[in-house]
Amino acid sequence: MNAAAAQTLANFVYVFAVIGFILSLKWLNSPATARRGVLIGEISAGLAVITTFEDPRLHQFHWILLALGIGLIIGIPLGLVKMTAVPQRTAMSHAFGALAAAVIGISEFYVDLGQHQLTAFKMTEIALEVIIGSLSLTGSLIAAGKLQEWLPQRPIVYKGQNYFSLSVLGTAVVLALLLIVHPAFSFLFPVMVVISLLFGVMLVMPIGGADMPTVISLLNSYVGLSAALLGFVLNSKVLVVAGALDGSSGFILSVIMCKAMNRSFTNVLFGAFGQLQVSAKGAQEQRTVRSASPEDAASILASASSVLIVPGYGMAVAQAQHKVRELFDILSREGVNVRFAIHPVAGRMPGHMNVLLAEADVPYDKLMEMDDANSDMPQTDVALVIGANDVTNPAAKTDQSSPIYGMPVIEVDQARTVMVIKRSMNPGFAGIDNPLYYLDQTLMLFGDAKAFVSDIVRALTAEGVGKAASAAR
Ligand code: TAP
Repeated sequence: MNAAAAQTLANFVYVFAVIGFILSLKWLNSPATARRGVLIGEISAGLAVITTFEDPRLHQFHWILLALGIGLIIGIPLGLVKMTAVPQRTAMSHAFGALAAAVIGISEFYVDLGQHQLTAFKMTEIALEVIIGSLSLTGSLIAAGKLQEWLPQRPIVYKGQNYFSLSVLGTAVVLALLLIVHPAFSFLFPVMVVISLLFGVMLVMPIGGADMPTVISLLNSYVGLSAALLGFVLNSKVLVVAGALDGSSGFILSVIMCKAMNRSFTNVLFGAFGQLQVSAKGAQEQRTVRSASPEDAASILASASSVLIVPGYGMAVAQAQHKVRELFDILSREGVNVRFAIHPVAGRMPGHMNVLLAEADVPYDKLMEMDDANSDMPQTDVALVIGANDVTNPAAKTDQSSPIYGMPVIEVDQARTVMVIKRSMNPGFAGIDNPLYYLDQTLMLFGDAKAFVSDIVRALTAEGVGKAASAAR
């Protein structure tokens, strides 16, 4: 095949890859089609990478193959981490993406400098791309470190921090402008890179662990933007489109998460959210709660007509989803209408509960979005909260002094009976007490989610319990 025909074929493949990326994002929108979305995304990315080998500007393939090999060695174990570690794994993926974008931008700078091809326009593209890539690299590493608890999760803040951080970013921008006007000042380039790396650290250190998933999604959009800019630098249309899709989808996801938590971007980035509310913890100790055994819980569930299960982060920690599925099966067989109420930010990453329940083959049509669940709640006999806390906290609706005031929650307090499975009275990620636990209709089921649900299942399957409850109904 001659060079022109090969180029035409490559362009066709790139168009198919881009269509594949768009379909992938569309299908990832729903649990029912998400697997298909992942598959088409992988195939499209694979096709785009393989086709790039045809680029006549590429030489020395052995270096590329070596890099691919190293990538595989790092990537395969990263892909096998536990579900609860996926947020930090995602942050690491963004860090690698940002590293690639920054390193390629840096090498383009020196290649173009050596060939005297550094126009003001090219320098603008490279400077923007390298600044965003570098700050996303260190920002993502700090985010991963905080989530993995290698670094303190609490916000690290000091007086005048925002002004200082912004002046560091401003310095990087001034150096970029100097380089655009005088590309010969090439000694400023590494200083600009180091300052951008430093800014990434300063951007994420003051943000608390609870906000890290939102920050990761925001960093994702920065990495996408950096990749799109790199597409302009390298004159690669597929990279421009893929980067733009990545950047915009990451940004949309951050907006959805902020809305679900009733937070603004400035509040996430500069609000230092996520510090434990010590006074609220102190207050909880004077109040009493009612607790119940697995047998009590089993007979209450079996005598209910409708049950809404509200899963949260604790279900993920306990890996209780398969036992929860068993509970769903048994109660459904008993004629109980069992559904799941899914809060958009339950757990620690977008779609966390959907993924876990899909893993346990819970039928998609039994999953309800928050608004639908809330309108059914007053007619619900039992709201069974499994390892969720903040997303059920009624203080978000009633207590204006609460840090989560205004956040939409699943209104389990509207159900006739509420049962909450958790191990202790400890707060959730927002670090605040939950008045739900002290309501008259609430029963606390203290224990690990998997063990407690197993005990309920055992009690339900034990001779007589289910039948007796059915008879009572
Ligand atoms: P949380 O409020 O964090 O509460 C989880 C509860 O699970 C804890 O109170 C904990 O209580 C319990 N738990 C932990 N391990 C358990 C186990 N093995 N068995 C039983 N219970 C266990 O979770 P949530 O209600 O899902 O809310 C999510 C929080 O994360 C919100 O504050 C949300 O804003 C934040 N957040 C989420 C996202 C996304 S995208 N999902 C993004 C940013 C922030 P015990 O220790 O007493 O057991």
